[in-house]
This record gives sequence, structure tokens and C-alpha cells, in this order.
Amino acid sequence: MEEHFENEMNLEFISKSANEAFARISVAAFASQLDPTIEELADIKTAVSEAVTNCIIHAYENEIGIVKICAKLKKNEIIVQISDNGKGIEDIELAKEPLYTTKPNLERSGMGFTIMESFMDSINIESIVGVGTKVTMSKKIKKEEADQQKISQMTSMP
Ligand SMILES: Nc1ncnc2c1ncn2[C@@H]1O[C@H](COP(=O)(O)OP(=O)(O)O)[C@@H](O)[C@H]1O
Ligand SMILES: [Mg+2]
Repeated sequence: MEEHFENEMNLEFISKSANEAFARISVAAFASQLDPTIEELADIKTAVSEAVTNCIIHAYENEIGIVKICAKLKKNEIIVQISDNGKGIEDIELAKEPLYTTKPNLERSGMGFTIMESFMDSINIESIVGVGTKVTMSKKIKKEEADQQKISQMTSMP
């Protein structure tokens, strides 16, 4: 069955670090439709920034390639997919480990995936060496408020 999304946008740009800010601001502007809190917006920006930086630094290294972003809004949730056609990741589980980095000389912290994981509700990484990488993240907006409402509804039941 085909999934129905309430809204969708697609972005494509070349892997120049100047575009990292453009990407994170664009996704944040799109996410604003869900009326997020400042904090939720900051979380989304940080996660997008980490994923896009990875495409620029790791996927394409010193070459210029295309970074694609597809963002979807579904009820109170944003789903962001960030992909490249770069070098790919050999061992995804290892790459996700906190402090693991293949570029320690570049003052990389190795915390990119850990940050994405903690600032978003879910993250899924698909990668094929020599083909590219796709990172899919999702976050529910106003989740705590919605949970709180549910709890008060339940407790007010007779
Ligand atoms: N888009 C990508 N393409 C290729 N390799 C990647 C990509 N994203 C991440 N990686 C690999 O995963 C490792 C961990 O990424 P991350 O947690 O963001 O740490 P850092 O970017 O600081 O190295 C990177 O060092 C790199 O080897
Ligand atoms: Mg990183």
C-alpha cells in the first residue's frame, strides 16, 4: 500500500561546506509547519547538520558530489532522509559507535551518529560501499505535550 504523506519537499545541492547552513535552515523552515518548540527545531537542525557534514567530509572527501534531502511531514512527525552517492560505509554498526571516526586527523569527534540518534526519535542508516549512503531520521513534534494530554485523558476517565 502506498504511504500517504501530508507534505514533502526535496533539496539537492553540491557538497560544499557553505551549503551545510543552507541545508539545516531549509529543513528547519519546512519543519516549522508542525509548530515545533525552539528546542525541537534546534535538535532537527543539529541532526541535519551532522548528516550533511558527513556527506561532505566522508562521502565525497575532496571531490564534489550531490547531496540530497527529502523531508516529509506526517501528522506531528518529520521524516528526513539525507543521501549521497559517495564512498559508502563498510561497517555501519562500527560507524555508529560513539567516538568512532575514520578521520581523527580532521579534529572530528566521532559523535555525529550518536548526536543524530539522541536528538531524533529514530535513525536508520543504509549504505553500500562505492554506491552511497542514506540516513533516515524521524522526530515527533510536541511529543511530550501529546503524551501528557493522553495521560490526563486516561486519568480523568471514570
Ligand atoms: N555519508 C557518509 N559516507 C561515508 N562514510 C560515512 C558517512 N557518514 C559517516 N561515515 C563514516 O562513519 C564515521 C562516523 O561518523 P560520525 O559519527 O559522524 O563521526 P565523524 O564524522 O566525527 O567521523 C565517519 O568517520 C565515517 O567513516
Ligand atoms: Mg560526522
